[in-house]
Amino acid sequence: MQAEIEQLENRFREELAGVDGERALEELRVRYLGRKGVLAGLFQALGKADPDQRPAMGKAIHAFKQVVEGGLAARKAELGARAEESLPAGFDPSLPGRRPLRGRRHVLSSVLEEIIDIFRGMGFSVAEGPEVETDYYNFQALNFPANHPSRDSQDTFYVDDEVLLRTHTSPVQVRYMESHPAPVRIVAPGRVYRNEAVDASHAAEFFQLEGLYVDEGVTMGDLKTTLRQFAREFFGPQAALRFRPHFFPFTEPSAEADVLCFGCGGEGCRICGGTGWIELLGAGMVHPNVFRAVGYDPERVTGFAFGIGIERMAMQRYGIEDIRLFLENDVRFLSQF
Ligand code: FA5
Repeated sequence: MQAEIEQLENRFREELAGVDGERALEELRVRYLGRKGVLAGLFQALGKADPDQRPAMGKAIHAFKQVVEGGLAARKAELGARAEESLPAGFDPSLPGRRPLRGRRHVLSSVLEEIIDIFRGMGFSVAEGPEVETDYYNFQALNFPANHPSRDSQDTFYVDDEVLLRTHTSPVQVRYMESHPAPVRIVAPGRVYRNEAVDASHAAEFFQLEGLYVDEGVTMGDLKTTLRQFAREFFGPQAALRFRPHFFPFTEPSAEADVLCFGCGGEGCRICGGTGWIELLGAGMVHPNVFRAVGYDPERVTGFAFGIGIERMAMQRYGIEDIRLFLENDVRFLSQF
């Protein structure tokens, strides 16, 4: 019996030395100390042994049990120390974990979606065009002749003499009418670029939503009604929209529409530059030259168009005082919406 225990002890030491992790260690513990383990077997044999051999045998089994328990505990401590050694310097495993940040929709995306939905509700469908445009679609077909001073209002970034980053979404009007006969009722959302002196209300990269409605007998009254209805749906029934005469080469007559400033309610403040109003969009009746450029007959159809600045809409809605905040990617700002 003594020899048998000695053999078991040698085997245990060998197995213990081969243990390479917590899991293997636990398996070894169960194999020796578990209910059906090696030691349980030995104690069972002890019960059946000759009474005069029992004391010596019991002593040897207890000694073996202590070897097993001591060996397992020492190895466990060793494995724990090794795991800690492999942690990077300065890492404290007792600190609470950091939650991963959850993404969300950018405020400009949700405002744009909402605006598109309002126009969908009025029967407009959605069209798109490229951000890298040609001079023809961005300017010429929209009645901006080459070298004409009207081009000064929208300077941009040029790829070469003919190719540029679009300065507005109006080229989509031309592209759409070229490939679809009247009547037309579309909105065209997208990013636009300008070589602009950036300040609190001007970015060099921003979003617009173009609108175009062409049919027989469309009037300026339809334009004003559509935009007033839109402003009421987006800002609420109290929204005040003001139309001012303006100039765009591709509309005649042309107008700009402003809303009452959210900062001062019309008194005049830093945000609205003291005027009490904030410019939201440009609009007008489609110029006959644009119809000619796309092959429509200006004697038969008329139409209105508008271009809304999406950042300005979001700023007005949420009281955001600086347009640069949209592009800074600061989650403290973005997570408010
Ligand atoms: C245009 O871009 C015309 N294409 C709009 C138009 C469409 C007129 C159809 C007639 C018919 P404007 O340059 O004013 O116009 O810009 C339109 C709107 O874009 C402005 O009212 C403003 O809300 C926004 N916007 C213009 N420049 C900037 C800028 N630098 N940063 C942020 N928003 C701007």
